[in-house]
Amino acid sequence: GTVTEYQAEDATLSQAGVFTNHTGYTGTGFVDYVNTTGGYIEWTVDAASAGPVTVAVRYANGTSSDRPMDLAVNGTVAAPGVVFTPTANWDTWTTRTLTLTLAAGVNKIRATATQSNGGPNVDKITV
Ligand code: GCU
Ligand code: CA
Repeated sequence: GTVTEYQAEDATLSQAGVFTNHTGYTGTGFVDYVNTTGGYIEWTVDAASAGPVTVAVRYANGTSSDRPMDLAVNGTVAAPGVVFTPTANWDTWTTRTLTLTLAAGVNKIRATATQSNGGPNVDKITV
């Protein structure tokens, strides 16, 4: 079906903020998680019908360690511990894809940092 972009800087944020201090993002910025557990980005995503969709998370991780996150749909963790591996530096972005099952209509997709370094920097998701 149609692929739609949802910028991270337009989502609901907790323990995370919008920044522009690295290059290569799309839209007007990217989201930088505070370096702690529990911060999240939550996107509101419409689905024409219920069922599985491919979600592509565009991110940067300029460290040498993974930055795992839990991916939840409508309040339930559907993909725990999704690994966001290192990229070359904070200006280098890559895409991690996963499959999530959405309900028909409005959905909330939340990406929550699960370890003390926080999540990776996130540019957007496409669904
Ligand atoms: C650096 C970098 C940030 C990043 C942070 C981190 O401060 O400039 O963009 O979010 O490291 O380790 O999370
Ligand atoms: Ca950060």
